Amino acid sequence: MGSIIFLYTLFSLLISFISFFLLRTTTAHFRRRHRRLPPGNFGLPFVGETLQLISAYKTENPEPFIDDRVSKFGTLFTTHVFGEPTVFSADPELNRFILQNEGKLFVSSYPGSISNLLGRHSLLLMRGSLHKRMHSLTMSFANSSIIKDHLLVDIDRLVRLIMESWTGRVLLLDEAKKITFHLTVKQLMSFDPCEWTQKLMKEYMLVIEGFFSVPLRIFSPTYRRAIQARTKVAEALSLVVRERRSESERGERKNDMLGALLDEDGNGGGFSDEEIVDFLLALLVAGYDTTSTIMTLAVKFLTETPLALSHLKEEHDAIRARRGETEALMWEDYKSMPFTQCVVNETLRMANIISGVFRRTIADVNMKGYTIPKGWKVFASLRAVHLNQDYFKDARSFNPWRWQMNNTPGATSSVNVFTPFGGGPRRCPGYELARVELSVFLHHIVTRFSWVAAEQDKLVYFPTTRTQKRYPIIVQRRALSRPCKRLEAK
Ligand code: HEM
Ligand SMILES: *[C@@H]1O[C@H](CO)[C@@H](O)[C@H](O)[C@H]1NC(C)=O
Ligand SMILES: *[C@@H]1O[C@H](CO)[C@@H](O)[C@H](O)[C@H]1NC(C)=O
Repeated sequence: MGSIIFLYTLFSLLISFISFFLLRTTTAHFRRRHRRLPPGNFGLPFVGETLQLISAYKTENPEPFIDDRVSKFGTLFTTHVFGEPTVFSADPELNRFILQNEGKLFVSSYPGSISNLLGRHSLLLMRGSLHKRMHSLTMSFANSSIIKDHLLVDIDRLVRLIMESWTGRVLLLDEAKKITFHLTVKQLMSFDPCEWTQKLMKEYMLVIEGFFSVPLRIFSPTYRRAIQARTKVAEALSLVVRERRSESERGERKNDMLGALLDEDGNGGGFSDEEIVDFLLALLVAGYDTTSTIMTLAVKFLTETPLALSHLKEEHDAIRARRGETEALMWEDYKSMPFTQCVVNETLRMANIISGVFRRTIADVNMKGYTIPKGWKVFASLRAVHLNQDYFKDARSFNPWRWQMNNTPGATSSVNVFTPFGGGPRRCPGYELARVELSVFLHHIVTRFSWVAAEQDKLVYFPTTRTQKRYPIIVQRRALSRPCKRLEAK
């Protein structure tokens, strides 16, 4: 086994060597035709600048790799990472150009190890007219009227249910994951939390772990375990799909994502079970880890910014005073949380769960006087813009007040500098849902609990944004301060 891996490694090194020199030659050829690549370094043969990239992200600075190169080369530069030459953009205008020209000049591009985990028929990997149709179908299950009329009730109920069991020390990230997982399962297939969903979640978490072992450790046991877990999750889901298909043939229909997929006529003859399973699984992936991490980080930022936390508490205590202790949160309540929305934006800006998006050029593309050859990798860094002092004053500190009225950052600029959910045809269809989930979560945590961090937990940015220890906190239940009580006390 070891020798096979060794041989394989040798072989891939050889291939990288050859392609590196081919690349040098084509690049030189390219230059001779008077077209310029963006400036930058290719680094060492075959590994390129990958090692610099990885070691840079082990520091606490969120954007060391890009910062360094932007100061040397400007906001568009060339590098060589993860086995390929790649053009990085840290410029809002160029990012917009890249996102808007999806399908025309660029297509989204994920490494093979990721597509194995996602499945071939996930939205993230679809292209062309099928992508367009499925993107809007997904939107129609997460748009604001659906959230208002259906999902909000589930979100509110699930958040309370999970928080019910909190006492003493709590691993916040794990709790947030329970919430987002069960919510997504409900939204997709109408299942309430039960033994089956618990089991599914266990397997599913193994799949997610696999995402973080790529693209560097495709031979790792974690990755292999993830692929096995994926098979199990897919089997469990196909059972559900089969049952629901026969239900729908009997004329029963549930109003959820699965129902809509069964109604769609696909490429003529309807979607196969496999297509539906891939699609559902990828939706779980897209919505679950991102939203639970953002919930955890919001609490971390607030804990470290007591003034913001107390301002937030006031806003939510006022809502509870109107609603009483136990009534569910209503859409009007969500719409009257101005400071919470500042906290949400500031958390999205600082955390940048999706630091940027990978694309591949499908034609030679001209940008800022440079030419990017057809077939090249491009990375549009959303985070580099969000953390740029030119667009956000004192960009690396958490300051929700910067979003207050008449004060919205980047409002004077003609391009949008705040794009945590990407843009163009692939803009995140869950953007509103994520905002609502985070707002409801914040509402219940600040009105029900006070807490302190149980230990120091560091924010790290590689391979994804997260805290090292899943953010343990010690919670204490708050006696809700209702105004009538205060009156009695007088
Ligand atoms: C804080 C939470 C979230 C963040 C920061 C986020 C961010 C993003 C970003 C930046 C993209 C664009 C990727 C690209 O252009 O290649 C994206 C795509 C996507 N997101 Fe989200 N997302 C979040 C939550 C969700 C939720 C709750 C859902 C569930 C519906 C979701 C579903 C998707 C899907 C299906 C795509 C693929 C869209 C496509 O390729 O057409 N996301 N997300
Ligand atoms: C949301 O989607 C539903 C279909 O699920 C559609 O009827 C409604 O018009 C959409 N609402 C908005 C605001 O786009
Ligand atoms: C938060 O950001 C969104 C853009 O994603 C913007 O439309 C909204 O106005 C911002 N909210 C506040 C309170 O500034």
